[in-house]
Amino acid sequence: MRGVEGDRLAHWEGRPTPEWEGDWGVPHFEAWSAVRSTNDRVRALAERGLPPFTVVVAEEQTAGRGRAGRHWASPAGLGLWLSVLLPAAVRSGPGPTALLVGLATCRAVERAAEGLSARLKWPNDVLLGERKVAGVLCEATPRGVVAGIGINVRQRLLDFDEDLRGRAVSLQMAAGREVSRARLAAALLGELQRLLASPPARLDGALAGELARRDALLGSEVLVEGAGPGVARGIDAAGRLTLEVAPGEVRTVVAGSVSVVKGERP
Ligand code: BTN
Repeated sequence: MRGVEGDRLAHWEGRPTPEWEGDWGVPHFEAWSAVRSTNDRVRALAERGLPPFTVVVAEEQTAGRGRAGRHWASPAGLGLWLSVLLPAAVRSGPGPTALLVGLATCRAVERAAEGLSARLKWPNDVLLGERKVAGVLCEATPRGVVAGIGINVRQRLLDFDEDLRGRAVSLQMAAGREVSRARLAAALLGELQRLLASPPARLDGALAGELARRDALLGSEVLVEGAGPGVARGIDAAGRLTLEVAPGEVRTVVAGSVSVVKGERP
């Protein structure tokens, strides 16, 4: 089978996989010991006509990918490596979709590990403090958008590659206790269904308020790939980053990687 490198598992987190379908209210759920990328597996299932909210997890990804063609380390058993097919009404490309998936991930992290506060680093990194705990990769396919979410759950510091140790964190490290992947997946799928079953066209009202509250870049001096330096002034209703490039001069950025030059500035 294309993209598959391990075995399909009959059980996940101690229960038969069909039971999870019932619990989560999803039409199809597959768990694998190893795949190249769960996004590829969901794409293959979508091509076969499987419906929205088809879900795939893998214990390990051998070619997990992040944004901009980057590698996403997905070691066996240490994270939640999950992809889900979004409904056809969900538009691809940068903008609200990836941010809604990011918001769903923030909420799920807080539900599964009470006491933590998750923030969103535009466009789709989830942070605990200044460190990245999760990332989102939305990919368009002819059958709809595949949302891939990677959440670091059980790593200890030394489980991360050396270059990531200053920037990455797991839920277990941040919470100081074990965090259940089953609880995390349930919370994540619940939030994804709530936010994306019939997605809002604009991020306004309460969603805009939540985005502002979770915006890790707000007020920071940043460097945006392709747009240059500026001060991050929030996320607009279309999901674009508002960048103040000079006093009073504002530009909106549709996509790009952001690095923080200096923390929050009024
Ligand atoms: C990023 O931060 O650059 C995005 C990382 C996305 C990783 C997830 S893990 C599940 C899904 N499968 C992949 O190959 N990537 C996403």
